[in-house]
Amino acid sequence: MTDPISNTLLPDNSTVDDDGMLVIAGVRVDDLAAEYGTPLFVYDEQHIRSRCQQAVRAFGQGVAYAAKAFLCTAMARLAHEEGMHIDVATMGEAYVALQAGVPGENLVFHGNNKSEEELHYAVENRIGRIVIDSFDEMNRIERILDSTGGKVQALIRVTPGIQASTHDYVATGQDDSKFGFTVSTGWAEEAVERASSSNCINLLGIHAHIGSQVFSLDSFRRATEALAGLSNLFQLSELSVGGGLGVAYIEEEETLDIEEWGMTIRSVCSEAGVTARVTAEPGRAIVASAAVTLYTVGTIKELAGIRTYVAVDGGMHDNPRPALYGSGYETFVPSRVMDPRNSPITLVGKHCESGDVIVSNGYVPDGLAVGDILATPVTGAYGHSMGSNYNKVLRPAVVFVNEGSHRLVIRREELSDLVKTDVR
Ligand SMILES: Cc1ncc(COP(=O)(O)O)c(C=O)c1O
Repeated sequence: MTDPISNTLLPDNSTVDDDGMLVIAGVRVDDLAAEYGTPLFVYDEQHIRSRCQQAVRAFGQGVAYAAKAFLCTAMARLAHEEGMHIDVATMGEAYVALQAGVPGENLVFHGNNKSEEELHYAVENRIGRIVIDSFDEMNRIERILDSTGGKVQALIRVTPGIQASTHDYVATGQDDSKFGFTVSTGWAEEAVERASSSNCINLLGIHAHIGSQVFSLDSFRRATEALAGLSNLFQLSELSVGGGLGVAYIEEEETLDIEEWGMTIRSVCSEAGVTARVTAEPGRAIVASAAVTLYTVGTIKELAGIRTYVAVDGGMHDNPRPALYGSGYETFVPSRVMDPRNSPITLVGKHCESGDVIVSNGYVPDGLAVGDILATPVTGAYGHSMGSNYNKVLRPAVVFVNEGSHRLVIRREELSDLVKTDVR
């Protein structure tokens, strides 16, 4: 590897100034690092908006943004402003979206084990759709509404028996899954029948999510065919194909286009004569490539003939995906974006774990030094949201940049945050 980082892995509004410095939406990233410190997530706001607009063009208003990819009040507000609903998977995600001013009716509540408290919360906040995942959950909903009265609007989560080619931990459409009502056992039909005849449930339709980082449109095609059959059988009014669209993290991968995905799904549905409103809930495809993470190099350890470890001030607390799934990323030096990347490195974090590797096969220009800012692109999804306080590290700040200005949307944690929940 010698090429500079490719444009396609950087946020849409990235340019390089005369000094060779990366500029995102008109703001030099070294200025951002100086003002907010590192590690720092830098999001190109217009990039996110443009992906939301693509999703709305592909599926219509009310297509949901899967908040688990990245959530804070600014993000929820942005998705809402762009006409998206918000898919939440816990009461906590619902709370953040509601705090952002998103109406409850625009939320889609997921989860394979929603607690009674969470279901009460959904009813109290008039959450627009509860995606029912099991008969136990249906029992809980009926019990709650028996005492409070009223009805919830719901979808049935279906497990269509599609093995999407992705990491086992993020494949969810195969029969052997903890999620949803299996089609092949007859549970999906039984669940639709039972929900349709329930006094407490207004059944709108069915939903499936076959997994994440799916690069084959054919997997989506097969899942949609399975859903279409069930939707037609019961003449349901809504059909959601979930999320999961694959995004490129490294030079060899190619991002799937949101609108092409929408066309594929809608053409399967129209061939099958589906009359239901067809919708989806992309997460990663909306935010992943909108962000880069900036780190500061702290130590460099050269093991001659073996590898060079470059340790930065972040790690598995701001990006656990490599440790969880073996996910690959690229590295680059934002002050030398156009320089050839000749030196192979292994980028590691500051945690007490050998598995705390952010990028196993990274490349940087020759001459990297302690104190340099180093960046990883495509970190907008499942980085901050899956992050932790492991080793009592302070969670990083997040900034949105837009047309030459920047705003802090999540402040960096401070030491006092670490004892906020302790009872002393
Ligand atoms: C039910 C559901 N919908 C949507 C998504 C979003 O997936 P992605 O971010 O890959 O688009 C997920 C991810 O786990 C999910 O579980």
